[in-house]
Amino acid sequence: MSVPTLHVLLVVGSLRENSITRVVLNAAAARLQAEDCQTDLLDLAAEPLPLYNPDTAYDAPAFATLKRRIEQADVFVLGTPDYHGSISSPMKNFLDHFWHEFAGKLFVTLVASHEKGLTATDQLRTVARQCTAWSLPYAVSFMDHTDVRDGQIVSPKLHDRLAMLVRDARVYGALLARQRHADLHGDEPGFLARRRQHPA
Ligand SMILES: Cc1cc2nc3c(=O)[nH]c(=O)nc-3n(C[C@H](O)[C@H](O)[C@H](O)COP(=O)(O)O)c2cc1C
Repeated sequence: MSVPTLHVLLVVGSLRENSITRVVLNAAAARLQAEDCQTDLLDLAAEPLPLYNPDTAYDAPAFATLKRRIEQADVFVLGTPDYHGSISSPMKNFLDHFWHEFAGKLFVTLVASHEKGLTATDQLRTVARQCTAWSLPYAVSFMDHTDVRDGQIVSPKLHDRLAMLVRDARVYGALLARQRHADLHGDEPGFLARRRQHPA
C-alpha cells in the first residue's frame, strides 16, 4: 500500500522584508520537499489577512480558499518573531481565524529571538492545546547575524536543528495524520470523535 503524501503548511509570521523567519521557513520548506512532503507556504506579508473579526472573517472573499489550504494540511510549521516575549500579531491573527481545522494535527514551531523564544513557543503550544492539536515537544529558535546573515543560514547548529525538526515533522506528522484519519472514520470514543462528519 502506498504511503499518503504528507501535506505541510508553513506560516511566516513576520511582515518584515528582510525577515530571518522567512529565510528559515523557506529552508524548512526546501528540506520537507526533499523528503517527499507536499508544502504550501503562507507568507502573511504577501497574503495579508484582515484583522480577525468573528462577525465578518468567514465572509471575506479569500477566506474559503485559505480554509481549504488549512484543511488540507496535516502539519503546521509556524514561524514567528519574538515580540516582547510573545508571538507576532500577524501570527496570532492567523491562528484566531481557525480552530477545529487544527484538531488532531501537528504544530511545529520556530521562533526568531535573541532569548531562545521560550515564551513565544509556549504561546504557540497553548494555542495547540486549546485547539486540540499536538505540538512537537521542542522548538527551534535562531537569531540574526549568529544564525542567519544576508538571507542565508550561516550556523551549522541551526542547519542541524532544522534537519532534526524536519525529520520529526515528517515522522510524527505522518503518524498523527494516519491516526487522525482512522479516528475520523472509526467508531472509538477518542477526542476526534466529535469531529466526525458522520458519527458512527
Ligand atoms: C517590537 C519588537 C519587540 C521585540 N521583542 C523582542 C523580545 O522580547 N525578545 C527578543 O529576543 N527579541 C525581540 N525583538 C527582536 C526580534 O524578535 C528579532 O529582531 C527577530 O529577528 C525578528 O524576526 P524577523 O527577522 O523574522 O522579522 C523584538 C523586535 C521588535 C520589532
